[in-house]
Amino acid sequence: MHAQPMNDALTLHTLDVEAIRNDFPILKQESDPRLIYLDSAATSQTPDCVVNAMDEYYRTYNANIHRGIYRISEEATARYEEARKKIARFINARRSSQIVFTRNTTESINLVAYSWGSANIREGDEILVTVMEHHSNLLPWQLLAQRTGAKLRFIEITEEGLLQLDDLDRLLTERTRIVAMTHVSNVLGTINPIQDITAAAHAVGAKVLIDAAQSVPHLPVDVQQMDCDFLAFSGHKMCGPTGIGVLYGKLDLLEEMPPFLVGGSTIRSVQREHSIYADPPAKFEAGTPSIAEAIGLGAAVDYLRKVGLEAIYAHEHELLEYAHQKLSDIEGLTIYGPKPRQKTGAISLNLDGIHPHDLAGVLDVSGVAIRAGHHCAQPLMQQYDVIATARASFYLYNTLEEIDRLYDGLLTAKKIFTRRRR
Ligand code: ALA
Repeated sequence: MHAQPMNDALTLHTLDVEAIRNDFPILKQESDPRLIYLDSAATSQTPDCVVNAMDEYYRTYNANIHRGIYRISEEATARYEEARKKIARFINARRSSQIVFTRNTTESINLVAYSWGSANIREGDEILVTVMEHHSNLLPWQLLAQRTGAKLRFIEITEEGLLQLDDLDRLLTERTRIVAMTHVSNVLGTINPIQDITAAAHAVGAKVLIDAAQSVPHLPVDVQQMDCDFLAFSGHKMCGPTGIGVLYGKLDLLEEMPPFLVGGSTIRSVQREHSIYADPPAKFEAGTPSIAEAIGLGAAVDYLRKVGLEAIYAHEHELLEYAHQKLSDIEGLTIYGPKPRQKTGAISLNLDGIHPHDLAGVLDVSGVAIRAGHHCAQPLMQQYDVIATARASFYLYNTLEEIDRLYDGLLTAKKIFTRRRR
């Protein structure tokens, strides 16, 4: 797609965006200025069908699950388990018992680092991560390494924001126990070649955990094709509610792993001094879970399947092509990360001499919501020698006109801050 003059009718070819926007109450709200939401990498907006599914639970069958021998409890249990099945189908897991509900991606990764990590990592072992990880896929491994005496190693990136994979043979050794890496960078949008890395990791006997928080919402993900051992993602970045996340795992691994959080629901039987734990996923779902949220995530998955992940990916690609082309004529603007064809979802940038927080503040005045900061990826910021960037991130409901408003806002910021410096 080519950048078009601002006043021409701007059209996107892959999705009926107007119809989609109509599904999102927040995008229909009257406000002055109109909300231009470009922060879906932080959290996505929620369609009516998700709000309604949660509302229906609270209004008509609110009860605890797996406990009550009465109608509404049985209905709640059925709908919760149905959501698990929908999610399994969505990522092509063989069985729904491979889907563990957690609170978010962060909790899913902590679960693996603590449970699998404590049982499998010893002094001298190596854990391979990348420098583009979100802190949530770094800190749990740092703690594990500190606890066990294992060593963290890093896949570096190129200036363009791609993984330096010519280093992989040197980094993957018989000491590597796990590779923990992001599928899509939350800052750069880079899509990493998971299948190749997984094959190389398995060849040395290492397991692979994928942080899919920024990929499952944006492109088709097939865990059998990827052959990853674990995959973690969050509901709230894929049109679902907050407070619900997913850990997918290969069944033999989930079966062998010791429990992480324990309590109600996780057991088969309890004696005074010891207990026998349930099979996965129950073993990992301690306490009353986020019932309405799981059901809401099931509705979000239905919604995304109906729109189609291929179409969402293609739509975002058009937005990114347009944004790259349009914004790159602004003098003093740096865009971090690869070309649109190697990324999805987000565009990170800086404007010479303007702090990203100031940029976000100016954009907010015209209704444009972006994220500014280190994006929970400080090692990546250090790599680019910046303390922060401004990040605009896109989803199925964004339009080319909204990118024009972003462009206008950046020019306004440039004017304001250039004037101040004179
Ligand atoms: N991980 C989220 C982000 O990148 C919060 O903004």
